[in-house]
Amino acid sequence: MSAKWYTNGKGNNVKVLVCDSYETLSKKAAGILAGIVNVKPNAVLGLATGSSPVGTYKELIKLCEAGLLDFSQVRTYNLDEYYPIDPENDQSYHYFMNVNLFDFVNIDKANVHVPDGNAPDMNKACEDYEAMLDEIGGVDIQVLGIGGNGHIGFNEPADVFVGPTHIVELTESTIQANSRFFEKIEDVPTKAISMGVGSIMKAKKILLVANGAGKAKAIADTLEGPITPQVPASILQLHHDVTIIIDEAAAAGLKEYHA
Ligand code: GLP
Repeated sequence: MSAKWYTNGKGNNVKVLVCDSYETLSKKAAGILAGIVNVKPNAVLGLATGSSPVGTYKELIKLCEAGLLDFSQVRTYNLDEYYPIDPENDQSYHYFMNVNLFDFVNIDKANVHVPDGNAPDMNKACEDYEAMLDEIGGVDIQVLGIGGNGHIGFNEPADVFVGPTHIVELTESTIQANSRFFEKIEDVPTKAISMGVGSIMKAKKILLVANGAGKAKAIADTLEGPITPQVPASILQLHHDVTIIIDEAAAAGLKEYHA
């Protein structure tokens, strides 16, 4: 298990940890989250779906089972959800969180929040979610994955950064990428409700995890490219406390790292 710190040379507050394997990456990420919960038992965690954090969640479950971590007072807010979708649907992000984390740790489900992909008034659902984030004063730490096109949550490449929680039209590439979880591509919802980049930037800390060659370009653009809504994750260069944990394959495009 080895890992190496790297900075992108831009003088910002982004710390990057390049790990020798997905397992190392997952253990390191879980260690950071567990540390926060151990210091602050009622910590507010911003959580993400996708395959990238699954290993991290597995490590959190192990820590919980070993009695080293206690979720009883933890509150969680998820980044996004498909729309329209019922939370009971096994393709929903709500369901994903249950089967990959919540069902296996001692969290009180009343403390779990996932945007409602089935609300009668979606604009109100967006406003209510954002109001909840404001009320808690931002999550203590926000976990993020990253799309191959640089999206975070469901903030797709666009001409402008969208601040608050909003309804998103998914891009063709995201629908394509996410179709691996569905029986057929026509079943993938074309819309989602997602925290905006403004909602994400309200987090006190950000922890992004990414692995595999498919993320190399997005990671290089995020860290070494300009800040642009065409690469939504590039906004993280402006956050005061970001840790990005990746494997060697996802680090392949980093010029400074390989210099
Ligand atoms: C989805 C999610 C994102 C996630 C991305 C990458 O689009 N909305 O939050 O980061 O997929 O997923 P994966 O980790 O499976 O590559």
